[in-house]
Amino acid sequence: MDISLVLHGLSGALVALLAAVLWKLGPYLLAPFRSSLLNLPGPPSRRWLLGSLKDIYDSDGEVILDEWIEQYGPTVMFRGFLNTPRLFTTDTRALNHILTHSAEYQKPEEARRSLAHILGRGVLFKEGDQHRQQRRVLNPAFGPSQIRELTDIFVRKSMELRDLWTSTISVQGHVARVDIQKDLSKMTLDVIGLAGFNYDFDSLNPEGKPNKLGQAFQDIFDVPDRFPLLLLLRNFFPILRFIHNKQSRKVEEAQAVMQRIGMQLIQEKKAEITREHAEKSEQEKSFDDIERRDLRSRDLLTLLLKANMASDIPESQRLSDEDVLAQVPTFLVAGHETTSTATTWCLFALTQNPRVKKKLRDELLAVETDTPTMEELNALPYLDMVIRESLRLYAPIPTTIRVPIKDDVIPVNEPFTDRNGEVQDSIRINKGSHVIIPLQTLNRLRSVWGEDSYEFKPERWESPPEATSNIPGVWGHLLTFLGGPRACIGYRFSLVEMKALVFTLVRAFEFELAVPPSDIIRRATIVTRPLLRSAPEQGSQMPLYIKPYKCD
Ligand code: HEM
Repeated sequence: MDISLVLHGLSGALVALLAAVLWKLGPYLLAPFRSSLLNLPGPPSRRWLLGSLKDIYDSDGEVILDEWIEQYGPTVMFRGFLNTPRLFTTDTRALNHILTHSAEYQKPEEARRSLAHILGRGVLFKEGDQHRQQRRVLNPAFGPSQIRELTDIFVRKSMELRDLWTSTISVQGHVARVDIQKDLSKMTLDVIGLAGFNYDFDSLNPEGKPNKLGQAFQDIFDVPDRFPLLLLLRNFFPILRFIHNKQSRKVEEAQAVMQRIGMQLIQEKKAEITREHAEKSEQEKSFDDIERRDLRSRDLLTLLLKANMASDIPESQRLSDEDVLAQVPTFLVAGHETTSTATTWCLFALTQNPRVKKKLRDELLAVETDTPTMEELNALPYLDMVIRESLRLYAPIPTTIRVPIKDDVIPVNEPFTDRNGEVQDSIRINKGSHVIIPLQTLNRLRSVWGEDSYEFKPERWESPPEATSNIPGVWGHLLTFLGGPRACIGYRFSLVEMKALVFTLVRAFEFELAVPPSDIIRRATIVTRPLLRSAPEQGSQMPLYIKPYKCD
């Protein structure tokens, strides 16, 4: 073989590769010099590749973001990948603008690619008209009356977890050491299986079938003890997906299982709906007659399939089978780790606040039934305040990200002083710039919540500060579930599920942290999970000592 020909071919390939990399990175390489955000105040960048990303990752509970707001004011620029400027603002008018204009502020390409890789192309992935169409079909399945129907699943599975812990205690003696995060995650997987698809993963059953999906989720959401550089690079360079590691193999396995279960469920349910329909009287027989009020079966997938066939949804607006299938992993992932993580932090907070725990337990023990309805759970004022306070202080998703699809001028409430000493009453932003939405930072801002904003005080909800009414969140003057057309669709679902869990577990057990509080750190990848400072290599965990509660 002619060696010069080979070298020529290789150099051609190298030039093509270099051109592709430059084309891809072009906007990132130019942004540090010409972004309209450059004038905003903010911290200096410490690394050319990662900007401030590693500082944020390393800071316990991402508290560094709050510190920047305190130091530089409500509107800040920090550097991301390849030193690209990112907008970080807690200005409520600016956030309202961004969240309500969701068709113009979309998830960035890399984030969508990464979402699609784990979740498929469901409602979390879609943008613009396709997103609006999917929300229209999905919304009815998440309304209050649907959640009421699901409450007995939440309560039943909470009791199954209670019984599992009771038997662990009897095996270990009077007290058991339990990683509550792992068990709560099993519980919420079982719940979303049953409530979402009428499918029992049975993962709380110690003698149950081996659960590949549960294990895969555990791995996907585990927090690495080092900055996940490969994960970040993969989002920018999809070709790196061909480099496999333990996590990517788990993601692929989980996807295959979700795909298989999802397809099987959709076929079964469609057959069931058609059968039900065929049993109806002659004049009701056409599919056009399927009304939302006919929705008898209560799981989310059946409701979705029926809503999709309902006569008020025009043919052109209906979802394809592929679109319906894509919602299965979306619900499984979005509805599972978020709620278990939120409940983990809530129980942690109770171990650190004995007065609150006692007051809560007194309220819960006064209820005469073990199996409350949604109305009975919602009628417990202190339980409501405890859930609100833990979702404020421990928002499971600390930040999310958006990019404007065209240049924009964002209005602000609070004028700010830029790096040139000039006062600005709006933020100019270029198409494609990254905007980081501060879910957690806004929830604990001292200027909004007061000097005690980092303390767990459910009583603050008796009269929340006036300033909280400007927060553009879908629920409770908080950004925990975001706001605007892209707000969490499942917030009512998770609130009642959390209440059922806390109701059942706090009535049954005494909890104590099994390690010193200073050993617990909060580390965010997709959700903020607990990690032991003394043993980060063990992955996320929340070890508690648990014993049965006995009233004196
Ligand atoms: C404590 C529990 C939960 C928290 C903190 C939470 C938080 C959030 C947040 C912040 C978003 C917006 C993400 C973004 O656009 O960047 C979101 C979206 C979403 N959540 Fe939740 N979530 C929770 C529970 C649930 C549950 C139980 C379900 C379903 C059963 C669910 C389903 C969804 C879906 C489908 C979306 C996408 C909505 C859209 O893009 O239109 N979530 N959630």
